[in-house]
Amino acid sequence: MQAELDSGKTIAQRRELGQFSTPSALAGEIVSFGLGLLPEGRVRFLDPALGTGAFYSALLRQAEEAQIEHATGIEIDAHYAGPATELWADTPIHITIGDFTELPPEDRYNLIVCNPPYVRHHLIGGKERIRIRTKQFSGIDLSGLAGLYCHFMLQSVKWMAPGGIAGWLIPSEFMDVNYGREVKKFLLENVELLRIHRYNPNNVQFHDALVSSAVIWFRNRNPAAERAVTFSYGGQLASPDISREIPVSELRSETKWSRFPLKGARAQGAHMAVLGDYFTVKRGIATGGNNFFILEKNRLEELGLPREVFRPVLPNARRLNTEEILADALGNPILESELFLLDCALPESEIQVKFPKLWAYLLTGKDTVANGYLCKSKKCWYSQERREAPLFLCTYMGRERRRSNQAFRFILNHSDATVTNCYLAIYPNSAMKRFLQGHPESLYAVWNIMNQIDPQRFIDEGRVYGGGLRKVEPSELMRIPVPEIEKLIMEAEGAADRLEKTP
Ligand SMILES: C[S@@+](CC[C@H](N)C(=O)[O-])C[C@H]1O[C@@H](n2cnc3c(N)ncnc32)[C@H](O)[C@@H]1O
Repeated sequence: MQAELDSGKTIAQRRELGQFSTPSALAGEIVSFGLGLLPEGRVRFLDPALGTGAFYSALLRQAEEAQIEHATGIEIDAHYAGPATELWADTPIHITIGDFTELPPEDRYNLIVCNPPYVRHHLIGGKERIRIRTKQFSGIDLSGLAGLYCHFMLQSVKWMAPGGIAGWLIPSEFMDVNYGREVKKFLLENVELLRIHRYNPNNVQFHDALVSSAVIWFRNRNPAAERAVTFSYGGQLASPDISREIPVSELRSETKWSRFPLKGARAQGAHMAVLGDYFTVKRGIATGGNNFFILEKNRLEELGLPREVFRPVLPNARRLNTEEILADALGNPILESELFLLDCALPESEIQVKFPKLWAYLLTGKDTVANGYLCKSKKCWYSQERREAPLFLCTYMGRERRRSNQAFRFILNHSDATVTNCYLAIYPNSAMKRFLQGHPESLYAVWNIMNQIDPQRFIDEGRVYGGGLRKVEPSELMRIPVPEIEKLIMEAEGAADRLEKTP
């Protein structure tokens, strides 16, 4: 039935409401674990994002009907809620077709199990209203970047009986990213966090959504100040590959919870040189419409567009078949495809007079590109952020490459071309610039060090998604340890010192 209902919708429609069901075996192990945490007594069960009822089905498989005092399922979409109501008609569940973030809470459930919708922040309808309600319910003002699943989890406490248990199957991303800070605060201060289990992302739980999943277990009770939380990884909830007790004092001071349980607490005190000591990293330009704003050189000429309002830009990583970008005398990259990015902040009235052909081109995107999410938020829809040509670029999303075992590529750029957000742009800071001016021969050594960074360091600082896909954010890249660069500088400058002192 699930497959049939899913096939009645497009993937885009399902993404809008985060409609990806929990495989039955996974739902089974989660519910079984939750039942084990419950004290003796009858179950009052709630799934606030029911779908067709994967968790309720597991509950029925594992508990006697007599053990179920009450069960409620909430589901916003009648496409799933309707058939689910028919399917479970002869069982104790009450299904409400409605929006969990709008219904009045009833604090009577002692077992909440939920795989909430993973809707990204910019796609949440009525986000402000939901944020306000989360704040009212939990006292926590979630970041505007938090996904809908965070709001579901924080709002759920108002539905829990004292001492009740909740298990949330959610993306593990919150453990590391900035918007997760308040979620972690909630887990440490508002409830008694019991366990966080992360599934091994190479063992993808959801074939159709690219996420690495974790199950968070907590009890609705004031937490004791000093205690430990079980972090586990891999295998199954009942038999993880690794498990470790992490004191909450360590959780409070650690910003990246994904290091647990594979790694212990960070060594205190000693500062190890990191990329951010030598470089500033920024995301490349988000144009809001690469196909429109980026043009091949011949197309530019064909349309008679003015070269002075375009600047060279590098092709995306897949089309860049070199590791070192050389430049011609004008600073243009010497590459097979010569691409240019429209980079013009002149007002429309001036463009009409000065560059009529550009104006005609802009008109072709006025109803489409200009109305996109990003362009609409810009002051002038066809202007671009300032981003100088970086010295290095990093392809920041990748899988381990079999040949080199590296998930990320560092590319050396000698040209004046800028980059889009398929890259991280890496700029030397003033100390590094000075070093490279004094020791130009070291440029290749620095580049080499970057390309040799132990993949484990990216795993520690970056994030791992389902299927082993890795991603690293600018701030994460800047935290990657590079003691080798420190050593290189010390050796090069030491050698220079020795030369100077030689009579
Ligand atoms: C990730 S699916 C989980 C479905 C099911 N519980 C399972 O585990 O297979 C999330 C479900 O939440 C529903 N949903 C999305 N937004 C909702 C809302 N605001 N209130 C209630 N349900 C919602 C979606 O329609 C979808 O069926």
